[in-house]
Amino acid sequence: KKVSYSAMQSTGTLTLGNYLGALDNWLKMQEEYECFYAIADLHSLTIRQNPAELRKRARDLYALYVAAGLDPEKNCIYFQSHVSAHAELAWILNCFTYMGELNRMTQFKDKAAKHADNINAGLFTYPSLMAADILLYQADVVPVGVDQKQHLELTRDIANRFNGIYGDVFTIPEAYIGKSTAKIMSLQDPTRKMSKSDENPNASILLMDDPDTIIRKFKRAVTDSDMEIRYSDDKPGIQNLINIYSCITGKTIEEVEKEFDGKGYGEFKLAVGECVANRLKPLQDRFYELQKDKTYLNSVIKENDEKAAYFANKTLRKVQKKVGLTERI
Ligand code: TYM
Repeated sequence: KKVSYSAMQSTGTLTLGNYLGALDNWLKMQEEYECFYAIADLHSLTIRQNPAELRKRARDLYALYVAAGLDPEKNCIYFQSHVSAHAELAWILNCFTYMGELNRMTQFKDKAAKHADNINAGLFTYPSLMAADILLYQADVVPVGVDQKQHLELTRDIANRFNGIYGDVFTIPEAYIGKSTAKIMSLQDPTRKMSKSDENPNASILLMDDPDTIIRKFKRAVTDSDMEIRYSDDKPGIQNLINIYSCITGKTIEEVEKEFDGKGYGEFKLAVGECVANRLKPLQDRFYELQKDKTYLNSVIKENDEKAAYFANKTLRKVQKKVGLTERI
């Protein structure tokens, strides 16, 4: 079986962007691929966190993966910080990654501008830890949103460089990016991506928003002064809503345009809001169930942490040997 690997940071609550851009594709892969999905709690430390809150968010994120439909008995879902091989390989990869490469990362530039008082070395070397995540599991595909594409290209460059020196140690991973869900846009400014850190609460649909909130946010979504429900780059607001509706209902763009031909924006926005609310409701119910009874999650977490460590350590030992670290006695 081919390997699928991905992760999310445990920073803030997930948005519809995380769900459609990543999680929904992970769900589609669980039969066909051997899947590893992590809670990237080490990555979350690149921004100052409240310890109790971070711990809760990481655990909630785990529950959310499961509530969304990822079966923790089929997929290896684990905490990045529980597998020390990540930090160990990241160090080694840091020694094969150039400052110039890290300097070119647009996410680093954006985050450094936003957190000017805390431009730490972890923020800078964030992509080499992400490369370590992916390469430890010999991933073939990495389902992500388009904002992670540059990091994935760097991962491939690092892996190719390493293989060039030491032989075929790492599988070279491919990004798997959905067509219409690669970048879900803000509902208040459809030229920017929907983001958990947006200050305007109406800009993002959070996965735990209740149905009324979801519908209200869609009703307020910024569109244009035109009246046509047509998929076009000149109409980013409507385009974003069509993408969301198409992805949730499984209808093609053309089918959506046809369905709402001659109808008003109000009616369309309501339909989008309703289909999103309906999709998220069972996920939310399962999430609250999982929070009530901790025993199930505790047992799968332990098992999966061990499984992840087993795979990761195999690659790590190989790398350590290749680069010339002293063998264990
Ligand atoms: P993160 O936590 O920012 O986002 C998690 C996933 O959600 C996708 N995403 C979106 N997709 C479409 N539209 C949006 N508006 C949107 N917003 C977010 C992201 O592309 C991502 O797939 N560095 C990663 C986490 C990570 C990782 C990894 C990913 C750590 N190690 C190894 C893949 C492989 C991150 O910060 O994602």
